[in-house]
Amino acid sequence: MSLRVGVIGAGGIGSDHIRRLRWTLSGVEVIAIADPDGARTAAVAEGLDVTIESSGAALIANDRVDAVLVASPGFTHADLVTACLAIGKPVFCEKPLAITADEAWRVVEAEVATGRRLVQVGFMRRYDASYRALKATLDGGDIGQPLVIHAAHRNPEVPDWWTTDLTIKDSLVHDADIVRFLTGEEIVASRVLRPRASSRLADVQDPLVILLETTSGILVDVELSVNIAYGYDIRAEVIGETGTAALGDGGLVTLKRAGARSTDVPTDWRQRFALAYDRELQDWIDATSAGETTGPSSWDGFVATTVAEASHRSYQDGQRVEVQLADRPAIYR
Ligand SMILES: NC(=O)c1ccc[n+]([C@@H]2O[C@H](COP(=O)([O-])OP(=O)(O)OC[C@H]3O[C@@H](n4cnc5c(N)ncnc54)[C@H](O)[C@@H]3O)[C@@H](O)[C@H]2O)c1
Repeated sequence: MSLRVGVIGAGGIGSDHIRRLRWTLSGVEVIAIADPDGARTAAVAEGLDVTIESSGAALIANDRVDAVLVASPGFTHADLVTACLAIGKPVFCEKPLAITADEAWRVVEAEVATGRRLVQVGFMRRYDASYRALKATLDGGDIGQPLVIHAAHRNPEVPDWWTTDLTIKDSLVHDADIVRFLTGEEIVASRVLRPRASSRLADVQDPLVILLETTSGILVDVELSVNIAYGYDIRAEVIGETGTAALGDGGLVTLKRAGARSTDVPTDWRQRFALAYDRELQDWIDATSAGETTGPSSWDGFVATTVAEASHRSYQDGQRVEVQLADRPAIYR
């Protein structure tokens, strides 16, 4: 029998996930959608056999919904996930798990109270073939101990309501999580630097450079750009003791013509991470159908949000800020 999923939030990524649940992945059907934007919901629901719910709470309470996918804005996530946990319903939550560390910890506590894992967080980079190959290279010892990581997370554009706070609280969580995934270490401190700001955005400090330190002292510089214009570009290069290893940087074809060489740059996250989203959600469907929860956890979501919060403090006062974590509860060990 298929897993019956209800989707909360049918915007950019919610509609993309509904499309992949409907047309690409197996063992699943979308049976309910909730989004306050009626016109958008109607457009996304067209041709699908779904119930349109009046709110996220109503969707969660629907007995026919076996599992919930949360793809509404970040500030709604903690309450929605906690509501799922209160009735023991499995939930996939897009990043970030929460906007503040306190809220994220509230989710962790609610999950611990259920006695088992029920939440998977949408850190899809862990499912990306290129990041996985990079991790395998590091784990294989091919370049010795990692010492430095240069990373970049560049978006072509953001909506006009975007803020610097969102760059830190909504975007940095991806980099915080993937550093932990690649190195197997925690992030212990963050310092945010403000380069010359692009004139293309009036009230946003763009780019930002964020220096993260891991437990063993690996230094990670993350350039976060939200209005880079030329495309969506995700980079990571690890400097080790005996070599370097980087994410591949090429499209499917390299074109050489008229004295120039060129290759595609993805237009956005949909294109760059399409297969990673497919893989993370198929894993979630398969595990949930088997009564299990795997993948990035609420703990991972809590840690990433805690790193983002420390970075936000550093952005405000210009100082290096230490990341203070609670003890990891047993269900996440
Ligand atoms: N994993 C990734 O790479 C990735 C990529 C894009 C977005 N995201 C995350 O997904 C979330 C949504 O981002 P988006 O780009 O789709 O945003 P969006 O603004 O395009 O869509 C959000 C949708 O949620 C709806 N919404 C608002 N409040 C709601 C509520 N209380 N209940 C139900 N629906 C509500 C809005 O009407 C809108 O349709 C964010 O947390 C974002 O960080 C993750």
